[in-house]
Amino acid sequence: MASDDTSDVARKYQRLGGGYDKVSALLDRTAVSRMRAQLVARATGDVLEVAVGTGANLRHYPPGVRLTGLDVAAKALRAASRRAGTLAVEWTPVSGDAARLPLADASVDTVVCTLAGCTFPSPDRAFAEIRRVLRPHGQALFLEHVRSASVAGRVVLRAVTPLTRAALGCHPDRDTVPAIAGAGFTIEVLDRAVGGLFLSIRATPTT
Ligand SMILES: C[S@@+](CC[C@H](N)C(=O)[O-])C[C@H]1O[C@@H](n2cnc3c(N)ncnc32)[C@H](O)[C@@H]1O
Repeated sequence: MASDDTSDVARKYQRLGGGYDKVSALLDRTAVSRMRAQLVARATGDVLEVAVGTGANLRHYPPGVRLTGLDVAAKALRAASRRAGTLAVEWTPVSGDAARLPLADASVDTVVCTLAGCTFPSPDRAFAEIRRVLRPHGQALFLEHVRSASVAGRVVLRAVTPLTRAALGCHPDRDTVPAIAGAGFTIEVLDRAVGGLFLSIRATPTT
């Protein structure tokens, strides 16, 4: 069962449904579009996309991957399934919570997770779950917006947090990279944009 915080995020995205695509389209006018495409093209094998939303990444998957898309908001997941139906992608939708992934240990080659670490009510648990389901030689591909390196930037992000949190469950001042590393990953930053606020990351299980 989802925690209260997770239910709250689910309600927000359930209300938004396909309407989230308008937010996504705005973001995709920035470097985010290029970052998504280049990141998702790296996926191989059995792929789990955690917090797949309405499926903004689906068109970027290379041929041959077997994709499971998980989200806590059923309406978003239905929009993703409609989108998958228009593409040549092997697609299985799963309704679930990132903090309790309904998958076996070491069962996927690639986890993709974009613009979602900021919304997870329990990011540490979600990153630990991603680590658990990855095969030893697997990879996790993240696109995240992260806490600003500058004091002024942090003040601005902190000031807008009540608004983004209320609208999208989004915490723009989160220190997401150390949280991913803390779940047992070695981090490689692949790309950065908007003054380092957006990062593409390849994370591999630390041995
Ligand atoms: C900002 S949207 C990003 C969607 C998509 N990944 C993208 O790049 O456009 C955040 C998504 O995370 C999902 N989400 C938030 N917390 C979740 C959780 N604990 N488990 C599963 N999905 C979650 C929301 O329902 C929403 O679809």
